[in-house]
Amino acid sequence: MASPIKLCSPLNELQIKSQVLSLAAPADKALRENLGSHVDYIDEVSSYIIFSGGKRLRPVLYLLACRLAGGEPDPRHSSIFEFLHAATLLHDDVIDEAGLRRGRAAARTKYGNEGVVLVGDFLFSKSYSLASEVDDVRFVRALTDCTTYMAEGQVLELLHTNDLELDTKRYTEIIRAKTAILLAAACQMGAIYAGADQDVVRHLFDYGIELGIAFQLIDDALDYVGTEHEFGKPVGHDLAEGKITLPLIHVRDTAPQKISERLMALAGSSDPAQHQEAKEIVKAHGGVEATYTEAARRALKSQQALRELGPQALDASAADLLMSLPWYVLNRRH
Ligand code: IPE
Ligand code: IPE
Ligand code: MG
Ligand code: MG
Ligand code: MG
Repeated sequence: MASPIKLCSPLNELQIKSQVLSLAAPADKALRENLGSHVDYIDEVSSYIIFSGGKRLRPVLYLLACRLAGGEPDPRHSSIFEFLHAATLLHDDVIDEAGLRRGRAAARTKYGNEGVVLVGDFLFSKSYSLASEVDDVRFVRALTDCTTYMAEGQVLELLHTNDLELDTKRYTEIIRAKTAILLAAACQMGAIYAGADQDVVRHLFDYGIELGIAFQLIDDALDYVGTEHEFGKPVGHDLAEGKITLPLIHVRDTAPQKISERLMALAGSSDPAQHQEAKEIVKAHGGVEATYTEAARRALKSQQALRELGPQALDASAADLLMSLPWYVLNRRH
């Protein structure tokens, strides 16, 4: 999808993918070591979700931010972020009644809602336990602040289900809380672990927030224009679940009144055929482009936050990859 805002990327797509993969390898090894319960069922459900081909963006961000801030991260702690992520995905698929995740049956369809909610709780707890191994109250506090805010985000989104009047400000608050904060915490905690000063920690946090907002905006755009094959999860599902996202909000607010009214009537129905028509209207009236443009603006802001670190950025290769990730997020298809 073309966006009027052009983003630079120090690395090309192949370089980004191969560097992410090489950072993900120790993170994956740590995940296998850190997972473990004397209840076999927990291991089975956790492994089902965790080893099903996630991009590992959050642990990679943790490792990179720590290096950038001059630290030597322990991959063991990168599991904090993937455990948390997996827990939220397990819970999210229950809330969203999703049947597909990472190109295969969502865990809840195999193990049932009750089982995956409980295993999600286990994974939350595992991540806190790992964080407490770092004897730094700022580290643990950053994590608890993050998860508190994430829960608020998911609840806020739930409260706005089918709210056709949801505005951009509130929508942004929701995606900042439910998604961006975890990317931000991964960056922030990497910097804290490195012993970086407050200013560096804050810039890396800001980088993660803007990147995370861009990330969710693209997720919401791909729900309109992605393919299930590439996306690995249901497309067109947000509207079906009453999730009002920026592509729809933009067209509602900018299209001629008649079209906007028609769109609201279609979006408010529970008929899949009417949702299909709503999707067509959103696409025809620039809802997806506007979402990509906003994502690009956020991606630029995340790069700006990194640039402001200036000479304090100690690890050049980590800086290059961090600077490239906003571009990668904008161009992702899954
Ligand atoms: C999916 O996150 C949930 C959102 C915040 C949109 P990812 O797209 O990072 O999921 P995986 O881990 O790569 O599958
Ligand atoms: C992401 O929102 C919410 C989480 C923080 C898990 P979505 O509900 O859009 O995520 P997907 O599309 O199911 O991955
Ligand atoms: Mg979902
Ligand atoms: Mg959701
Ligand atoms: Mg989504």
